[in-house]
Amino acid sequence: MSTHEKMIPPPAVLLLAAGQGKRMKSVLPKVLHEICGEPLLIPILRSIDSAFGTDAVSVNVGIIVGHGREKVEAAVRSAVKEDPTLRHLKVDFILQAEQKGTGHAVHSAMESTWGSLRLKEKANVLVLPGDSPLIPPALVGEIGRPLEKNTAIRLLTCDVPDPRGYGRVLRLGFKAAGKVKRIVEEKDASPRERKITEVAASIYLFQSTFLANFLPKLTTKNAQGEYYLTDLIEWAGKGTAASRTKVSTLAWANAEDLRGVNDLWELSLAERALQLRLIERHARNGVRFLDPSSVAIEASVVIGERVRIERGAILRGHTTIGNDVEIGSNVVLKNMRIGNSVELKTGSYCLDSVVESGAKIGPYAHLRPDSLVGKGAKIGNFVELKKSKIGENTSIAHLSYVGDAAIGARVNIGCGFITCNFDGRSKKGSRKHETVIEDDAFIGSDCQTVAPVKVGRGAYVASGSTITLDVEAGSLAIARSRQENKIGYAKKFRPE
Ligand code: UD1
Ligand code: CA
Repeated sequence: MSTHEKMIPPPAVLLLAAGQGKRMKSVLPKVLHEICGEPLLIPILRSIDSAFGTDAVSVNVGIIVGHGREKVEAAVRSAVKEDPTLRHLKVDFILQAEQKGTGHAVHSAMESTWGSLRLKEKANVLVLPGDSPLIPPALVGEIGRPLEKNTAIRLLTCDVPDPRGYGRVLRLGFKAAGKVKRIVEEKDASPRERKITEVAASIYLFQSTFLANFLPKLTTKNAQGEYYLTDLIEWAGKGTAASRTKVSTLAWANAEDLRGVNDLWELSLAERALQLRLIERHARNGVRFLDPSSVAIEASVVIGERVRIERGAILRGHTTIGNDVEIGSNVVLKNMRIGNSVELKTGSYCLDSVVESGAKIGPYAHLRPDSLVGKGAKIGNFVELKKSKIGENTSIAHLSYVGDAAIGARVNIGCGFITCNFDGRSKKGSRKHETVIEDDAFIGSDCQTVAPVKVGRGAYVASGSTITLDVEAGSLAIARSRQENKIGYAKKFRPE
């Protein structure tokens, strides 16, 4: 929508999200299943905000909750609070204590305080399904335009290749151009009706007064014994010429946008489609994907330009990636902050940490939470960091464990180094101790430092040392037994 169009007051929105989702075979309420790293219900909220929200206009969204309502409310509240793309939404929750069908859900909403406020405002009410995460902002904007004169309902319909599970749109004389008569649910449809490929998708704009007048007339005389919201379509066409109101339709061409989630397979299909859209957006913003179908990126991830992402990378949570970054195959990043020109090589697994510009990580490095890798530093293969700060241009290139450590700049740590940080005490007194290695120190291969301990600026630690005492700046520490060579002794083992 253009800014000008956004000046027209937006409709109020009602999201249907009270159902249990029995077909999901899960204890979690359906709308809380994750899609691209966030609850199923969130992407449509983002589309609503993007279609109608401006800094001057907030959008009233009533979310109808029932099954698992506390969890649903908590998840939506935290998303709305934290996610700036949802900042124009004014969300209220409406309780539908028993789930007696989509008509009953909207009826409960219109009888609530939320509904009476909308009636007072003479607002139009846009009903959207909570289980259709691919509905784009453009669709929400289109269906939400002001209603034509004498029209009580705008119904979104779509011609789909596989209409199974959807309500079918019955038109007069079974003709595509015929007036819409009613919607028949799959379970109530005759074999002939089931062949209809024009479906309704639980997307409608209603006059609020029409809802107030006709929702009380719904009955449960159908195959599922539920109050069907779809039955309202038939009511709009009835009555005397003077009282009759019209149903207008909006035909939507892209069936994928309407993909609903009713079971775990449909969730997988919807996620694949949403994932591809997210990846397309990143690609058009300057990210090169070598095999988009193998990559998983959550909605909250931010990526710069000239970034190259190899096969099998997984980018999760609040991860931000700078420019000119290379992400190797099967790299996993979660809640990571990555600077510019960083190289993350194959198989590295990095969580809740920061990697500054120009650093090189991996292959097969493990960055555990609260680590910071400074500019130009190198963390090589089979190196594990935990809660450690690594200074600029420091190198820990091979087979090491560094935990609870503060390591300065330009430090060189040889192969096979271990910070012995854990004192082995039982749970209650269990303590981790800190290792400090100051700028320009050199640690030979196969050393251990038993924390708490400090190696001073520019000091040398000889290979094979186990350091238990602090090493003064500029000193050399050797902590290993002296070598003894027994001349000619080898022939004792090999007499021949
Ligand atoms: C519904 C429509 C069908 C449409 C399809 C599109 C009806 C009767 N049928 O069928 O025409 O093609 O969506 O996806 O409207 N819900 C409640 N309270 C209830 C029942 C449902 O809030 O009492 C919510 C559910 O949580 C869900 C949405 O309404 O988010 C749709 O319910 P669902 O059971 O999935 O309806 P469908 O059988 O898919
Ligand atoms: Ca559904």
